[in-house]
Amino acid sequence: MMWSPTSWTQKPAAQQVSYGDPEALTRVIAEMSRLPPLVTSWEVENLRAGLARAARGEAFVLQGGDCAESFDDCRSDPIAAKLKILLQMSLVLVHGTKKPVIRIGRIAGQYAKPRSADNETRGGVTLPAYRGDLINRDAFTAEDRAPDPVLMLRAYERAALTLNFIRALVDGGFADLHHPEYWDVSFAEGSPYAAQYHQIVDSIRESLDFVSAITGVEAEVLRRVDIFTSHEALALPYEQATTRQVPRRPGWYNLSTHFPWIGMRTAQLDGAHVEFHRGINNPLGIKIGPGMTTDWLVGLLDALDPERKPGKITLIHRMGAGKLQQHLPPLVEAVRGTGRTVLWVCDPMHGNTETTPQGIKTRRFDNIVSELEQSFELHAQLGSHLGGVHVELTGENVTECIGGARGLSEVDLERAYKSRVDPRLNYEQALECAMRIAKHLRQR
Ligand code: PEP
Ligand code: CO
Repeated sequence: MMWSPTSWTQKPAAQQVSYGDPEALTRVIAEMSRLPPLVTSWEVENLRAGLARAARGEAFVLQGGDCAESFDDCRSDPIAAKLKILLQMSLVLVHGTKKPVIRIGRIAGQYAKPRSADNETRGGVTLPAYRGDLINRDAFTAEDRAPDPVLMLRAYERAALTLNFIRALVDGGFADLHHPEYWDVSFAEGSPYAAQYHQIVDSIRESLDFVSAITGVEAEVLRRVDIFTSHEALALPYEQATTRQVPRRPGWYNLSTHFPWIGMRTAQLDGAHVEFHRGINNPLGIKIGPGMTTDWLVGLLDALDPERKPGKITLIHRMGAGKLQQHLPPLVEAVRGTGRTVLWVCDPMHGNTETTPQGIKTRRFDNIVSELEQSFELHAQLGSHLGGVHVELTGENVTECIGGARGLSEVDLERAYKSRVDPRLNYEQALECAMRIAKHLRQR
């Protein structure tokens, strides 16, 4: 079949909704197609080159942000807080990996969610499931849950506002991490790792001071940082509307994000998402869980990257701390068998989700760190290597995941649980997670 931005409509598409008014959808797609893009093709190509370096072991990727962004949280404080924790984590990871770190937010477009059930029933009433602010609204009424195509436009606008603010902060020197308050790890007092965290912070501060002292200016790495965007490319009408050709570069780019990823629920070889993504030049992430088979994975690589372009494919594995040893090795061997170089990234969040007896979705910090540490070790044993981490976090003081130096427990979950979807690491847990990675890598 000839590829075009709409050829996906000829294939079965998982996780899509049907809009009550198809003409309204057509109007929204037409309007979005005329709006300026959020990112440029040269940024996309820069990222692909960076991911190729990470695949070769010369750089490390930090991808992080909300499970789902919400329209409500399109405000300056949460955005700045998320940027700050991403920058801090990345600095800790530079320290731990001794490699340049490529920062990618789950941000500026992460508005659509796959759901395991199409409908939700409460008190005998059944309505369509909430699928993210790009599709419908969270409130449990028929009107709110009806898919509304105008929300795609609203999502695109909020993505633009978010990215504009991030770019302004970064350009304006927000990334100046000299300030001591950036490096307060007092939350870790009493943790067995406290002394090591202090050492890591001291050594980061020394190297920052050293660079400023000899150059007389703030470290260039901190002044000019790149932040790339990513989201799960789930709602295909949205992705289609932002896919276009650019002057002087062949092919098509999805310019609503630098780095779209395909979830496993939509990775069917003969499905619409694979059809859509095989035609765009962006680097692609593919989430792989315990259900991924070697044939399926090799089929995806052949379909999505027939030319074997460096940096094109990132495989984001999310097996769960207890399943990694069983499920990862055959996939690594299968990829090796193809002779391809891919970038391996560990998502230690999605395989470690559990529900408390009170019915609250949570994740244990220890399982998250364990899956990460096992991933570094296992890749090394298999002769490949882990080139990045993918986490769900917020810069705020929420209580959604259990554990960490503060010892959050199930009781604490009631206090500040804000996520409408998956539980995120809070500010301290995210920083501590980076410290644990750094510590692990330095001890190896
Ligand atoms: C996600 O990244 O939020 C997500 C839904 O993950 P997965 O597809 O890996 O379950
Ligand atoms: Co999630």
